[in-house]
Amino acid sequence: MRFGLTPLLVCASLLTAPVLAQGELRGHGGPVRALAVNGDAQQAISGSFDTSAIIWSLPRGSTLHVLRAHDSAVNAVLALPQSGFATGGEDGQIAVWQAPDFSKPQIKIKVHEGPIAALAVSQNGSLIASASWDSSFAVTRLIDSTIQRFNLHQGNVNGVAFSRDDKSLISIGYDATLRITELASGQTRTITLHTPLNALAISPLGDLAAGGADGSLFLFAPDGTPRHQIEAAEAPVLALAFAADGTTIAAASPRGSVSLFDVASGKRLVTLNGPGLPVWSLAFTPDGRQLLTGGGDAIIRRWDARSGDHMGPLVPQSAAQVGPESDGSQGAQVFKACAACHSLTEQGGNRAGPSLYGVLGRRIGRAPGYVYSPDFASHDIVWTKETIARLFELGPSVFTPGTKMPEQKLVSPQDREALVDFIERATQAR
Ligand code: HEC
Repeated sequence: MRFGLTPLLVCASLLTAPVLAQGELRGHGGPVRALAVNGDAQQAISGSFDTSAIIWSLPRGSTLHVLRAHDSAVNAVLALPQSGFATGGEDGQIAVWQAPDFSKPQIKIKVHEGPIAALAVSQNGSLIASASWDSSFAVTRLIDSTIQRFNLHQGNVNGVAFSRDDKSLISIGYDATLRITELASGQTRTITLHTPLNALAISPLGDLAAGGADGSLFLFAPDGTPRHQIEAAEAPVLALAFAADGTTIAAASPRGSVSLFDVASGKRLVTLNGPGLPVWSLAFTPDGRQLLTGGGDAIIRRWDARSGDHMGPLVPQSAAQVGPESDGSQGAQVFKACAACHSLTEQGGNRAGPSLYGVLGRRIGRAPGYVYSPDFASHDIVWTKETIARLFELGPSVFTPGTKMPEQKLVSPQDREALVDFIERATQAR
């Protein structure tokens, strides 16, 4: 029986895995500024200029929760070590999110007077460090929200990381310094480089990487001893990520490419080739096999970390791949931007957004079993082809202020018309 069962199981996973596991993650309405994957590789979190964060199921390639707590862009995200997630915003606030209730953060603290640029978490999950453009970095203790603040940099602080023993904080800033600061004594060691620093990453082994405004990638031993200085890009390096085994680092530049480097030798291993540039954010899956990139086109893509190949189709997916709801029309093509969050049929149910089954002629906020944001549900709107078209002509934040639907617009009148015609065809009772 054991021999008989195994191939069956393999077949079943082959049937479901390839399409979904390689799919792009679509749902944001603006550039994806930050990315993280949780320890069991089941979920990813992304933060966007659209002011939302989204938790994704990686195996299913779909949206699980849309998180709304920030007044402006979500610049930093963390998967916390035990469970849960944290987000840091341009509004200077840190929010902590825990299952099962993702409708609001469990903790929300205003830590900075300026935008938060980066977050880090201690190994035991009790402390969150934040780097801010208010020229400080801080450590927030989650249990009582006490904040320890350090004003050591001049100008924007762009990156923070805990040392592997949680005793020191590493920080980088626009003042071209990397600092290693002992939390207990406040003593700091300063390494001055030749270019402003935009990004910082620490490997599981404690190696440090900093990305420079001139495209340099600096690699350091855990104690700050320089190892390599690499010309990684022709434009500023804005995002860095170590693979979980610490042997590979990925560096992204918004006007150039994404490259992977061998940490020991400093040699370039591979440069990603394909769609989705510019890239604003990076994260490896814990097994190091896949690299996720978050792009200026609001899409999260997956790449084979060894070959640098894009996983999934290079050209936009054909409408036929959207799901059983698609009919191959232009409207179905436009609806791909919505499909991560909205089903069109009764059986499809509610996703991160309400089901659109029966939406035409329905008052706003009435899909059975869906919890809307109160402001959204209290608008005086009946959904028709005209009002849905208007929603995406003006954008949800203008047409339905207070909504948790990420900001997105359809500029072309033809696209809007095709979309609402498709919704009309696809959402009628069948
Ligand atoms: C990232 C997830 C996401 C995406 C992508 C998204 N929506 Fe939404 N949508 C939502 C959420 C969440 C709500 C509920 C808003 C609230 O409660 O504030 C919503 C609400 C709606 C509503 C109102 C439904 C009702 O019952 O009142 C319509 C219509 C709608 N979306 C259409 C679309 C269309 C069309 C697209 C693509 C162009 C789209 N959405 C893309 C998340 C999304």
